[in-house]
Amino acid sequence: MKKLFVFALAILAMVGRVRADEGMWLPMFVERLNYVDMQKMGLQLTPEELYSINHNSLKDAIVGLGSEAKPRGFFCTGEIVSEKGLLFTNHHCGYSAIQKLSSVEHDYLKDGFWAKNFSEELPAPEMTASFLIRMEDVTNEVLGVVTSDMDWTARNKAISTKIKDLEKAASEDGKYNPVIKGFFEGNEYYMFVYQVFPDVRLVGVANSSIGKFGGDTDNWMWPRHTGDFSIFRVYADKDGNPAEYSADNVPLTPKHHLPISLDGVKEGDFTMIWGFPGSTERYMSSYGIDYNVDTFYPIIIDIFGKELEVMDEFMQKDDAINLMYADNHAGLANTWKNFIGQCQMLRKNKVSEAKVGLENNFMLWVNRNNKEEYKEALPNLKEAYKSLGEVAKYIYYPNFVAQAGPAGVASMFSTYYDAYVSKDKEGQEAALMMLQAMDVDELFAETDQRVEKKLFAEMLKTFKAAFKAEELPEIYNIIDKKFKGDIDAFADNVYEKSIFATPESIKAFIANPKPKMIGKDYAYIMNTSMMEVIISHVPAYRQAMQTVSQNDHVFVKGLREYYADTQPEKSLYPDANSTMRMSYGSVKDYMPADAVHYDYVCTAQGILEKYVPGDYEFDAPKGLIDLIEKKDFGAYADENGDLIVCFLSTNDITGGNSGSPIMNGKGELIGLAFDGNWEAMSGDVNFEPRLQRTINVDARYVLFIIDKYAGATNLIDELDIRKSEPQPIREEEEVVE
Ligand code: ARG
Repeated sequence: MKKLFVFALAILAMVGRVRADEGMWLPMFVERLNYVDMQKMGLQLTPEELYSINHNSLKDAIVGLGSEAKPRGFFCTGEIVSEKGLLFTNHHCGYSAIQKLSSVEHDYLKDGFWAKNFSEELPAPEMTASFLIRMEDVTNEVLGVVTSDMDWTARNKAISTKIKDLEKAASEDGKYNPVIKGFFEGNEYYMFVYQVFPDVRLVGVANSSIGKFGGDTDNWMWPRHTGDFSIFRVYADKDGNPAEYSADNVPLTPKHHLPISLDGVKEGDFTMIWGFPGSTERYMSSYGIDYNVDTFYPIIIDIFGKELEVMDEFMQKDDAINLMYADNHAGLANTWKNFIGQCQMLRKNKVSEAKVGLENNFMLWVNRNNKEEYKEALPNLKEAYKSLGEVAKYIYYPNFVAQAGPAGVASMFSTYYDAYVSKDKEGQEAALMMLQAMDVDELFAETDQRVEKKLFAEMLKTFKAAFKAEELPEIYNIIDKKFKGDIDAFADNVYEKSIFATPESIKAFIANPKPKMIGKDYAYIMNTSMMEVIISHVPAYRQAMQTVSQNDHVFVKGLREYYADTQPEKSLYPDANSTMRMSYGSVKDYMPADAVHYDYVCTAQGILEKYVPGDYEFDAPKGLIDLIEKKDFGAYADENGDLIVCFLSTNDITGGNSGSPIMNGKGELIGLAFDGNWEAMSGDVNFEPRLQRTINVDARYVLFIIDKYAGATNLIDELDIRKSEPQPIREEEEVVE
């Protein structure tokens, strides 16, 4: 009988079969484009409860985390989870702020931090919380300034001027931060009006050995056992308005906060994620993909890989350096591994080949319908990417070398030195004043000279290895002649003798400048010789980049018309661009390879399996290991007594969604999205329904760490935790077996 019951359900599921998973949808259009689907899949909220500009709605609990006072984009997402402005995000999203708040004596990355009351909460540096007030279509206003006689540059200039005007008008004298962004490669424009709260404070975070468990080895991969969450609080003035940090500020009373569900997840459960995905390239041409895979990504992988090697070497043996470089390292490592994964998976999943298929169909349609406007877009893109492929290395490699350590500092003196050389007295004076106003110590903040010197030398070696001998610029002549080709000896010399190597020598120079010295300084020569390489290739590079953006615009315009004509039932969603989006799907497993099945949940047992005491990535706190060994999971265990750590869903997300709430059909928090999976690293370019999953940390694991591990019961009391009554047993199930 049971079987029959399951069978009946399966039929129901087939009847109700709906499109899902792919797409990052604009909240304003959810009711029109997605709502019916979502309801069939299990959503229980009304459209007004999701997004409304007149009433409080779910969107009011979604926060863009920015690093500026008026951010135009967000590095992560957070969600409000209490009536007192408590905010959840990922551990890796709070990472930079937590590092800045830490010292070797109080290392919150290593040891964690839990405020016992409001007064212990720590103002987070460089972190602002933006709430979306409303969004509106401004396409007609923005594109209204474009006239047919404008070339691409004039057009873009007119558009940016118009955007600035519209934003200014909507800001209500600085009360709001309105941001207008282009969609579908500049074919539509929308304005997003935000209220930005600058006073955000750190409330709680577990040790990195929980929050970053598995480190870079596990990053971008499933199964994953990372407690990737951290807790902040948004503060406002006593009237609830945004205010700079002040001891008088009070916790924000939000318009909406998310309840947290203890019900857990089952395969097939409806899930939705709201947040701020940063960037995708779903409409990229095959030429763009090939350029990234064959040329651009390999360059960045090469450079970042070398930098990471140097950092790793120092970080793993020195606590102070480990803390100092933590954020920088995590960011590089994350992108490095992402690009490696993209190269592999774009090839393996044959994404370029799929695009060629689409492009062929598109061109057939263009020719059949005489769409003159679109005929040249793809051939132009092909040409432009060919040029980019030829010049990319002459732009990116020298850029990293030119900016390395003292060479980068030296570049700040070039205006001054150029004015001296051309005997422009006034210019020289003005440039010196700028230099005098510069915060020299800031240039060296968060750096260690031993690491920097090694990085400096490594960049020069990386460049040398990537270019033919006859292409090497002047600085390598000097290294050959004066240092017998020994780059390390050259680096030693620069760090000992260059004006630009230490804060002391820079300050001494500014106090008593002898401009002539600059021209002889090796760090300066290194910078200028790299800049020469760049400058001689910039015209070709700029031209190609412009051709790409112009023809992407035309191609996407054409594609939309092609789809509307040939597949009118298909709704298109715009690429991610750090604006609020909603994605819906369901809890689901996957098969990463033939005969390999990945479950959709993983449990705390996996932490014991991966645990390596003292390891850089797989260590775990003793307290946590004890709780797991005793299976002391309290109210957070599942029905089998296991503790679910992370789970998979089919939601379509990307970087910037990190920290986003994943919610059930009632709009309750069931976890935090924090990653994508390796097999679908091509997902930013093409969604892979069979393989692509979002990795979420389960809300029950988050609560378990807060409550059982950290003992922060004050936070548990503050949260709005819900558990459904057990469902009465269905009659069908009772019948027979
Ligand atoms: N892959 C994650 C993301 O891009 C970041 C994870 C950070 N963890 C790490 N081990 N670097 O959102």
